[in-house]
Amino acid sequence: MLPFAPLVLALFSFPLSTIAVVSPNKTCGLTLAGSNNGYTCPGDAACCSQFGYCGTGDTFCLSSYGCQARYSNSTTASCYAPRNATTASVDGTCGLVGIGKNGYRCPPSGATCCSQAGYCGNTTDHCAASSGCQSAYGSCTATGKKNKRSQKGRRSAKLWEDRETKQDGTLE
Ligand SMILES: *[C@@H]1O[C@H](CO)[C@@H](O)[C@H](O)[C@H]1NC(C)=O
Ligand SMILES: *[C@@H]1O[C@H](CO)[C@@H](O)[C@H](O)[C@H]1NC(C)=O
Ligand SMILES: *[C@@H]1O[C@H](CO)[C@@H](O)[C@H](O)[C@H]1NC(C)=O
Ligand SMILES: *[C@@H]1O[C@H](CO)[C@@H](O)[C@H](O)[C@H]1NC(C)=O
Repeated sequence: MLPFAPLVLALFSFPLSTIAVVSPNKTCGLTLAGSNNGYTCPGDAACCSQFGYCGTGDTFCLSSYGCQARYSNSTTASCYAPRNATTASVDGTCGLVGIGKNGYRCPPSGATCCSQAGYCGNTTDHCAASSGCQSAYGSCTATGKKNKRSQKGRRSAKLWEDRETKQDGTLE
């Protein structure tokens, strides 16, 4: 065994990060699209998303949305945390109560209101101040004011799903 000791030591002295291979096709990591290749992202698409794709922007880089620091290009950028009440929701949740865990703000159009339960939407339940609409995380309407957009709110969950698939499932 003794003659092999230097070899074993040599192997251990090279951490995996020094032999990272930059992705040839914007897939990264080990899971999903990364398909066990363990690629690191290139500098111009530095963040490795939870789905195993390299890219830029919140859906790729937010640590709260599964950005994989280990496979992101640390030279150019790295994963970052959302900014409370400022980062636009990437998953239809908002605020810090109920389903809201990341302090996301609802978008400026569409599902603009943050409900008491932490969902972005535009029904009266989401938007009325009397229903607990959270003004720190989106727009709200005054108590009692009618919101004619109620019916369309039911589609919001599905629409968010579609949006995620498009943004993260498609290579740039
Ligand atoms: C990316 O390239 C690797 C290595 O050639 C390959 O195994 C993987 O299937 C490719 N993935 C896509 C989505 O093209
Ligand atoms: C970042 O990507 C560039 C190519 O775009 C590559 O040369 C460099 O090694 C990468 N850095 C890391 C830390 O992976
Ligand atoms: C998040 O921002 C809201 C609105 O500005 C503020 O009321 C709250 O205290 C902040 N919470 C944290 C944990 O930063
Ligand atoms: C209500 O929100 C949904 C997404 O949740 C959006 O598709 C729809 O356009 C919104 N309606 C209005 C009138 O903004």
